[in-house]
Amino acid sequence: MGAVTAVQMPVNPVRKPETTQPRLQVDQVCLRYRSSDGNTFTALENVSLNVPDQQFAVLVGPSGCGKSSLLYLTAGLAEPTSGNIHVGGQRVRGPGADRGMVFQSYTLFPWLSVRDNIAFGLKRKGMGARERKEIVDYYLDEVGLTAFAERYPKQLSGGMMQRVAIARALANDPQILLMDEPFGALDSQTRMQMQQLLLRVWEHSKKTVVFVTHDIDEAILLGDRVYVMGARPGRIKRELDVPMPRPRDMDMVMEREFIEMKRDILGLLHDDLQVAH
Ligand SMILES: Nc1ncnc2c1ncn2[C@@H]1O[C@H](COP(=O)(O)OP(=O)(O)O)[C@@H](O)[C@H]1O
Ligand SMILES: [Mg+2]
Repeated sequence: MGAVTAVQMPVNPVRKPETTQPRLQVDQVCLRYRSSDGNTFTALENVSLNVPDQQFAVLVGPSGCGKSSLLYLTAGLAEPTSGNIHVGGQRVRGPGADRGMVFQSYTLFPWLSVRDNIAFGLKRKGMGARERKEIVDYYLDEVGLTAFAERYPKQLSGGMMQRVAIARALANDPQILLMDEPFGALDSQTRMQMQQLLLRVWEHSKKTVVFVTHDIDEAILLGDRVYVMGARPGRIKRELDVPMPRPRDMDMVMEREFIEMKRDILGLLHDDLQVAH
């Protein structure tokens, strides 16, 4: 009996790798700017982070700590002074459709309708009209703008424009979604609605996200992991996992775990805030 069992055992079982490759890998990235007087300014010093597939990562930190710089480098809009960045195992060497961006400022094409804004990247890829319509209709519904498909950006509120920007980014099915304070210009009511919308859309898409904010509540509400950054020089001070279960909603801001995490992050930011004011 024992011998039979031994024969049936695979000799070299195929093992899955213990760790899968992170979707975003930032290795020892430094970014220095040279000012007109010849001095150098270190915007990012030795920043490393690994964002696994399907993680909602949030960068939080005071103004000027390099949050936007780190996103720009990941987007390929600037190059690090040293270190490197990989997305899906490919070294970032410039901008690409594999990285979707949503900025704080409104970046829609004013001459295109909502539908055509969302379809823009798909059209450029050469996707046929039928498949394009299917995808655009899906994302119009996801962001609640089906009734506004034929409107133009100037006919929309700020919140609606950001919903189009999110739909446009997701419609391209990027490897990673980069969001730089996308709700920063919205009033607090709209901002909360947008946070709830993003939570719902993200539950469906499970995209890997890097989301930048200086709002601690927003960071904890949305994120799986929060990277707390410090300034002068810009760096990652601490990585914290958010213990709150999903799906999430606004009521969580009153829960004990939420408040404890908020206190921890505030503590980490405290030194920088004192210097800044
Ligand atoms: N093109 C540039 N030339 C010189 N300094 C810059 C440039 N862009 C950003 N900086 C500086 O780098 C630091 C980080 O900027 P940024 O990434 O925009 O920070 P954050 O988004 O966290 O507010 C800031 O001190 C900013 O003044
Ligand atoms: Mg910024």
